[in-house]
Amino acid sequence: MGLIPQNTIDQILDRLDIVEVISGYISLKKNGRNYKSNCPFHNEKTPSFVVSEDKQIYHCFGCSASGNAIGFVMQYEKMTFPEAVRALGEKTGIEIPGSNFEGNSGDSPVLKLYEVNQIAAQFYHNELSRPENRNVLEYLHSRGIQNATIREFMIGFAPDSWDSLIKHSHAKKVDGELLRKAGLTVESTKGKNDYDRFRNRITFPVLNERGNVIAFGARVLDKSLPKYLNTPETPIYTKGKTLYGLNLSKDHIREKKYVIIVEGYLDVIIPFQNGIKNVVAASGTALTEKQVKTIKKYADTAVIVFDSDQAGIMASLRGLDIVTAEDVVLKVATLPQGDDPDTFVRAKGPEAFREILEKAPDVFDYKFDFLRRQNPGSSLTDKVRIVKEMLPTLARINNEVIRSEYLKKLSERLSIDQSSLKQELDKLKPDIAYKETEVQVIRPRTIVTDTRELFLLGFAISAKRFHLAIEKEVGIGDFTNADVKKLLESLSEIYVKEESVGPAKFLARIENDDALIQLAVKALEKVDVIPDKEKDKALSECIRSMKKGAQAEELKELNARLREAQSRSDHGAVSTILVRLDTIHRERVSNT
Ligand code: UTP
Ligand code: MN
Repeated sequence: MGLIPQNTIDQILDRLDIVEVISGYISLKKNGRNYKSNCPFHNEKTPSFVVSEDKQIYHCFGCSASGNAIGFVMQYEKMTFPEAVRALGEKTGIEIPGSNFEGNSGDSPVLKLYEVNQIAAQFYHNELSRPENRNVLEYLHSRGIQNATIREFMIGFAPDSWDSLIKHSHAKKVDGELLRKAGLTVESTKGKNDYDRFRNRITFPVLNERGNVIAFGARVLDKSLPKYLNTPETPIYTKGKTLYGLNLSKDHIREKKYVIIVEGYLDVIIPFQNGIKNVVAASGTALTEKQVKTIKKYADTAVIVFDSDQAGIMASLRGLDIVTAEDVVLKVATLPQGDDPDTFVRAKGPEAFREILEKAPDVFDYKFDFLRRQNPGSSLTDKVRIVKEMLPTLARINNEVIRSEYLKKLSERLSIDQSSLKQELDKLKPDIAYKETEVQVIRPRTIVTDTRELFLLGFAISAKRFHLAIEKEVGIGDFTNADVKKLLESLSEIYVKEESVGPAKFLARIENDDALIQLAVKALEKVDVIPDKEKDKALSECIRSMKKGAQAEELKELNARLREAQSRSDHGAVSTILVRLDTIHRERVSNT
């Protein structure tokens, strides 16, 4: 699926009224300037879900769900961004051009990164049809991958050259900076030219849920190391956020409400080709909270497939406690020694694989049996070891019935009195309970401790003139919170071309990042409580206070440099620093 042009999205948001859209799903009550309701995204008895008609956004004070009309439909209908835009587009009668990547991205840095990754994926994929790369195609065939599957997963080959992608991209007018930012090239250390990151490797494009290429995994053809090279973190790719294969498997997962989680690229591809399509890979990392949240949108049961010879099973099992806390039924399947899903399905067929999955014990039983094998004795020490590992898992189970059922099981199996187990469990609970509420909401990655930054961000989103004032007076460099900076920078890019953007449309431009959306909405709320006619005054006060903070920082640094210059008896430097210090002191006096 391609990208939808920004101006189409804007048009749709212009024609829609968020109050109408949300009223189509839940009933809203007028409350002052806003509308209120019980939040549809978490359980509550008193309404904390607020829809703002002026700003065309919604926010829940309970669970922090926030967004514009598109975001609401995505969250409520569990749709992807393009799906929600298309659905709303139909309502408004705005036609969405059948889109490809070229020419749609305008100046948005995120869209450009998608575009350049798409260009690279296509380039690598095309390389497979060149006669000189026949051996690569043969290798893929030898691993049982059919041509249709190669196309479906857009598998490709990065040629054995330092600049083939660079050359290809230049011909397409992609600049070197962008290639580097996408992690496709590496900056040479000796001031020489950049070079292609992936060389002489099979490429597996990693696509996000919405079908945009965001990264690559690239495998050697022989036994050399490292076996896989991966794209480093980029603005559009965070390790542990993505699930490989989800773009293709999500409909199947949704249908079955059940997902198979494997480890490697081939472990997705081979089962998929053999009709087991509800499969994703965590790709080399332990399952993260973010990934579990994504899974939860589609499935209520997950089976994780462990290699039987996997080192560090206990560590992986501990990591799985986060899944338990998410109300997803989790099972653990084990394959015969030496097999992974790829080799197993190819050797024994998909039916045999299905059977193993069906028999998979749930994580509680799996963990218990595993610990029992490690600590088989009847001594108290053995039992205590097991209890110690099992209780944190139990404590995370939100469902009271399931938890007490497991507690009973544990007491029976170890012949330990249930009430003393319960006591130990309760000791753990306050700590765990805190963590439970933490995982339920997606919090802004970094909490903005400096409310000044939050206020200023809110002003900047509210109106272009505020943003200009902030840019002129403070400068984005003086902000300390990375997410605030990111949002201010994207505003700068938007305001270069546009007179106004408005909260709802602004959120549409950061559709990819829930944490950023929540931060933006929180900032808007800060400013919302200031009466309109006092806004200008509040802004200038905030700017002044921010500048003072920045000056204090500069003073600290200058003083340190001064001491250092003095110790070196560098008189030139000393006098330059003194002049700057003097200027700052004068400014401070005249400002107060
Ligand atoms: P495996 O070593 O099990 O490889 O790593 P594999 O996926 O089975 O690959 P084949 O079958 O040998 O071709 C599992 C996953 O761990 C990540 C990759 O995502 C891989 O698919 N990995 C592995 C890396 O990122 N880097 C490596 O060097 C190795
Ligand atoms: Mn393998």
